Amino acid sequence: MIVQTVAAPGRTILAPEPTFVMYRLIAQVLGLKFAGVPLTEDFALDVEAMLEAIDLHQPAVVFLAYPNNPSGNLFDAAAVRRIITAAAGLVIVDEAYAAFASDTFMGALSEFPNLLVLRTVSKMGLAGLRLGMLAGAPAWLNEIDKTRLPYNINVLTQASAEFALEHRDVLDAQTAQIRADRATLLAALKTLPGLTVYPSEANFILFRTPAGRATAIFDALRARRILIKNLSPAGGALADCLRVTVGAPDENAAFLDALRAVL
Ligand SMILES: Cc1ncc(COP(=O)(O)O)c(C=O)c1O
Repeated sequence: MIVQTVAAPGRTILAPEPTFVMYRLIAQVLGLKFAGVPLTEDFALDVEAMLEAIDLHQPAVVFLAYPNNPSGNLFDAAAVRRIITAAAGLVIVDEAYAAFASDTFMGALSEFPNLLVLRTVSKMGLAGLRLGMLAGAPAWLNEIDKTRLPYNINVLTQASAEFALEHRDVLDAQTAQIRADRATLLAALKTLPGLTVYPSEANFILFRTPAGRATAIFDALRARRILIKNLSPAGGALADCLRVTVGAPDENAAFLDALRAVL
């Protein structure tokens, strides 16, 4: 809906990469140009490259996933602020993983008229509801709302969301558990030989395997009925990278046992 709102021939959507692939896909499907700006080797924002690209492309929208997917890290908040300040168009800070993160741009909305913050209930275990939320200046939200199809949030979703909100303590306990288990899993992964494990503020952990081994490790895990995500085929900064979702404690333990066996 955001991209539909600004779509016009010749306009550009910009995002650092690697990131959530839908930004590029939706821009392309709607006939806009997409400019991807490489993150640094450790998945930080290359601020100077971002500012140069913003100057060059004058993007209608900049997407920043905060935390980023698939790397799991929070970008430097000061760098994000410089980007919001420099961008003439909209900047969407996508906080899909907010439930697992230690920072948010919600509080910065009043400072920046071109900032919108995007959330979803998907990562709290409710992805099937297809329910999201966009926060920001009403002038922008009113325009974006015009692209909304009738009943795009259906009555079952509304009823389910209301029920979920009434039991928010259950969801909060679940996300708190996942954050604690993430720390345990991260510490355990760091003890394994040959892996580079990246810090995570999301409900998954990205790690780099020894060169050329990611797909073999992924396949060997799958043969042991452990399914994670193989990002290595995407290449570039993601070469040799695998991503594991933080599961229930027994699932995390089974993953670690299998990984130890196949490394
Ligand atoms: C950064 C980011 N934003 C949004 C989404 C998708 O959210 P939804 O299920 O609400 O479409 C994802 C899912 O992977 C994501 O990683």
